[in-house]
Amino acid sequence: MGGSISSLSVFAAAVEDSLLPGLLFNVREHSKNFKPEDMQVQIEGKNCIVTGANSGIGYATAEGLASRGANVYMVCDISSISDVKSFASRFSSKDVPIHVLVNNAGLLENKRLITSEGYEMNFAVNVLGTYTLTQLMLPLLEKAAPDARVITVSSGGMYTVPLMEDLQFSGDKFDGVVQYARNKRVQVALTEKWADMYKDKGIGFYSMHPGWAETPGVATSLPSFSKSLSGKLRTSEEGADTVIWLALQPKEKLVSGGFYFDRAEASKHLPFAGTKGSHAAIDSIDDTLKTLSVYSHNYSSSFRVVEMEV
Ligand SMILES: NC(=O)c1ccc[n+]([C@@H]2O[C@H](COP(=O)([O-])OP(=O)(O)OC[C@H]3O[C@@H](n4cnc5c(N)ncnc54)[C@H](OP(=O)(O)O)[C@@H]3O)[C@@H](O)[C@H]2O)c1
Repeated sequence: MGGSISSLSVFAAAVEDSLLPGLLFNVREHSKNFKPEDMQVQIEGKNCIVTGANSGIGYATAEGLASRGANVYMVCDISSISDVKSFASRFSSKDVPIHVLVNNAGLLENKRLITSEGYEMNFAVNVLGTYTLTQLMLPLLEKAAPDARVITVSSGGMYTVPLMEDLQFSGDKFDGVVQYARNKRVQVALTEKWADMYKDKGIGFYSMHPGWAETPGVATSLPSFSKSLSGKLRTSEEGADTVIWLALQPKEKLVSGGFYFDRAEASKHLPFAGTKGSHAAIDSIDDTLKTLSVYSHNYSSSFRVVEMEV
């Protein structure tokens, strides 16, 4: 994740000042209510894909799933849509059921960077890559019905913005922090839509907020922020906790389309934030993403998938 300290501080403060005071730091407080037996579940033979799994929350998630017996496929680059497609095509030829897809890959790039396919970088990874991979994995997820899951790692940053159709931040003054928050809002709204669209397919869709965690991405891209809050931020493992929890719980305990934080369903909107009605735009956004996803062309081929061994 990358971004400027000043805008990030405003962003963090906006969330901190919200009606969810525990959102940022108090995993230790919330964890008093955690049930250890929730995590004592073995998932031998289940196939899980984790994107952005080479560091931080993604790595901790991959490790947590693999240590419980899952076959974990760590996917390391989703910024190129053509590469996502070529991965999906190769992976689909394995014809194995996918029980859990964890859409974790994400970044907060403060500069307006454009990918080789012509997309704004935050959008390419956080939204379009995530969207395309999820769509292309649906047939394999259906093979794991009635208990397949898609877990998308969003962020509490999404509370600060409504859903907007301007997916690539067309305004003059590009702000990576705002763009990141918008992307994370799209993930939450898409999860809601997918849950509705595929409710009869035996696939559950969940989005979640990991809490602010001191991950390699945060430490590298936000050194001052990371340093000033050192010891107060969560560990990558604490950030991954609810992702793993969502993968392990009986599906009857979970609400498809829900947004989760610290092993519990949380509101997707803050009172008086005026974001609620904005989710009506998701149908049109879904159409746009479908079009972009279908018509993306490849100029590079850097896709990697690694099978995790424990
Ligand atoms: N840490 C937090 O406080 C926090 C809070 C809220 C939400 N989140 C979300 O949690 C998820 C994991 O973040 P993290 O904090 O663990 O950060 P991280 O350590 O930077 O991990 C992010 C992962 O996404 C991958 N990624 C970054 N840019 C990519 C690109 N262009 N194409 C494909 N993959 C890319 C990274 O791969 P490379 O290492 O190869 O770049 C890495 O594996 C993200 O979705 C983030 O938005 C984190």
